[in-house]
Amino acid sequence: MDLFEAIEGRKSIRRFKDTPVPDEDIKKILDAGRRAPSANNVQPWTFLVVKDRSVLKRMADGVREMVDRMIPHAGDERQAQRLAAYKGNFYVFFENAPACIVVLMAPYGLSSVTILEKMGYSAGEIERLRPHPGLQSVSAAIQNILLASHALGYGACWMTGPLVAQEQFETILGYGKEKAAVAVIPLGVPDEFPPARARKPLEEIVQGL
Ligand SMILES: Cc1cc2nc3c(=O)[nH]c(=O)nc-3n(C[C@H](O)[C@H](O)[C@H](O)COP(=O)(O)O)c2cc1C
Repeated sequence: MDLFEAIEGRKSIRRFKDTPVPDEDIKKILDAGRRAPSANNVQPWTFLVVKDRSVLKRMADGVREMVDRMIPHAGDERQAQRLAAYKGNFYVFFENAPACIVVLMAPYGLSSVTILEKMGYSAGEIERLRPHPGLQSVSAAIQNILLASHALGYGACWMTGPLVAQEQFETILGYGKEKAAVAVIPLGVPDEFPPARARKPLEEIVQGL
């Protein structure tokens, strides 16, 4: 598949057939992930492949539990209803995928950040001067994963909603405090064909051309 075709044709897929995804294909997809650029080529990612449905269910149960704890703190009834709806699908549908890739990020300490701290810059200011290089790097890997999945005929979805259950995931998956899950990517043969979601026109988002 041509790269531009893959970019234009990729959509978030949230319903999957039970058909298993062969390990060879998952490896091909993760190989595309590891070829992403990263700040200082530090490659701060690790990919955890979860195919065990009982583990995925425990993860989803962790998300539901956490959302239940969050709901009483919602600002208003609308927010509470939205959270309750997320618990029904938007945060947890990964449990029905034949495979899930949990993307972990290792902390990435930039020496320039230490220097800026010494110079008296606040955390907020430093964030603008050195905006999340580790997370940007991992995001590039995630996008490669989504495009490679689509090019191989699979559906996938970049999910961060489930990470409200980071603590539960850490226990269930055993990745330890030094790393953090930054995305959950369910993967499988699509069982839905949603329409493409609208994008802002170029004229609205480009300057100088
Ligand atoms: C950082 C990030 C987090 C996302 N988290 C979720 C999520 O938790 N659940 C979900 O269903 N979709 C999630 N999405 C998918 C977006 O809703 C989707 O990409 C967007 O609506 C555009 O649709 P498209 O991917 O089909 O083009 C996420 C996407 C990104 C980039």
